[in-house]
Amino acid sequence: MSELLKVTTSRATFPTGFLWGGATASYQIEGAATADGRGRSIWDTFSHTPGRTVDGDTGDTAIDHYHRYRDDVALMSDLGLNAYRFSIAWPRIQPDGSGPAVQAGLDFYSRLVDELLGREIEPWVTLYHWDLPQALEDAGGWPNRDTAERFAEYAMLVHQALGDRVPNWTTLNEPFCASLIGYAAGSHAPGRTEPAAALRAVHHLLLGHGLATQAIRAANPATGVGITLNLYAVDPASDAPADIDAARRVDGLQNRIFLDPVLLGHYPSDVLEDVEHLGGLGEVRDGDLALIHTPLDFLGVNYYTRHVITAGDGLPAHLEAGAADSPAVLDDAGVVAAPGTDQPDARPEGFEEASPWVGSEHVRGVFRGLPRTAMDWEVDPDGLHEVLTRLRDEYPAIPLLITENGAAFTDQVSADGEVHDPDRVAYLDSHLRACHRAIEDGVPLRGYFVWSVFDNFEWACGYSRRFGIVHVDYDTQVRTPKDSAGFYSRVLRSGALPDLPDSVPDGLVQPKPDTLSHPKPGAVSG
Ligand code: FCB
Repeated sequence: MSELLKVTTSRATFPTGFLWGGATASYQIEGAATADGRGRSIWDTFSHTPGRTVDGDTGDTAIDHYHRYRDDVALMSDLGLNAYRFSIAWPRIQPDGSGPAVQAGLDFYSRLVDELLGREIEPWVTLYHWDLPQALEDAGGWPNRDTAERFAEYAMLVHQALGDRVPNWTTLNEPFCASLIGYAAGSHAPGRTEPAAALRAVHHLLLGHGLATQAIRAANPATGVGITLNLYAVDPASDAPADIDAARRVDGLQNRIFLDPVLLGHYPSDVLEDVEHLGGLGEVRDGDLALIHTPLDFLGVNYYTRHVITAGDGLPAHLEAGAADSPAVLDDAGVVAAPGTDQPDARPEGFEEASPWVGSEHVRGVFRGLPRTAMDWEVDPDGLHEVLTRLRDEYPAIPLLITENGAAFTDQVSADGEVHDPDRVAYLDSHLRACHRAIEDGVPLRGYFVWSVFDNFEWACGYSRRFGIVHVDYDTQVRTPKDSAGFYSRVLRSGALPDLPDSVPDGLVQPKPDTLSHPKPGAVSG
């Protein structure tokens, strides 16, 4: 049998105790934007600013999870999830970002936690998934050191209320997006395009993470604490030295600028050099890195795609060919109308965003002709395996969790009332196989949270991109589990991936180009 036709014969079985979860985030699902004393967040301001989100969508109502959480938890229980990752809306707890907690805000999350525990679903709390109280942004936002202190105080208020029932806490979700997309690219809230400020935000987010971790540990040493990073496999588009350098720069800003301080205790020196002319990371005080390097109980990994990077001096021929009908630029930072397409985009004519890759604005991503999701992200499960084994090889051992992985496709409710999403099933299957392979290769992967349980507000893309394994009709709020929910449910109940049919060659489990719907490029976020 040839290598290519090697057939997987053994069942891909996951370890006992593996966590099978789903993930969401407060602003993307809760709605109830003014209920029970909730204050305004930067995402309320941003989404209500004309031209910032597709179709002017906001999270005002979202999927109304604030009022429907009981049914939503029941649905997760029906699917068989044994873990649920959700985030706390800081402005529900401290409307202006400081001062005493609003009891009604804490009570909502307390009820949610009890509901989950009652159904034997382990609650995994994320403290910050991007909804900074607007008052703190008005005072300078994350570029301001004080925001880190405020974050630690807020973390303690939540921990005091939920710490008795929530075993595992994630401080930040994707500080890359909260800093470099929010403050440099400008396509996420607060929508600033200030590279130097964005770099200060990087440091202060990590400082907030360190301060919160220490405070939680001091309150209860048994609490599990971690951070979630969005990590990418990064390759140069060619062997040209300029492309290799471009890939190094992107790897530095996407991966190492967060991994190194958190897991090794220092910032990567090459990245510091790349951004020195912007003032580096601002003021890094003695002791900051020790705080940021506080030992963690787990690292959360969000994985969606790989970046293939060029310095931009003309593309290698094979990449040009692959990107013939779309712009060769894989823009990772937000919503941009793709030139020459009919992508509906409610942004004003001429809307532009900056690069999140500060100090390396000349570099860009390219397409390789792989199948893409509705976000225009190439489907690359091998990249997930690569990220996981890199963590195993280059960083101290730490339990890992996939805290997000999933895909947006243009789902529709069929005449039979069901939502058939074979592309998402294939995406999940192939990425779970990559996880399984990583475990076999000795990666301490403890669980997987699909992004997302429900269709929801996809940031700058508004409701135009659906990531859920459960479809949501935004007019009626009716929830309909998609085929992918059934697939995921079967996998987690059996703890194993289905055998590949004998006729399917190993490695060809990802969707073929002709089975993928290909909406025109345009919307990218997170
Ligand atoms: C990640 C975000 C998450 C979601 C996915 C698609 O960057 O953490 O909220 O938007 O992307």
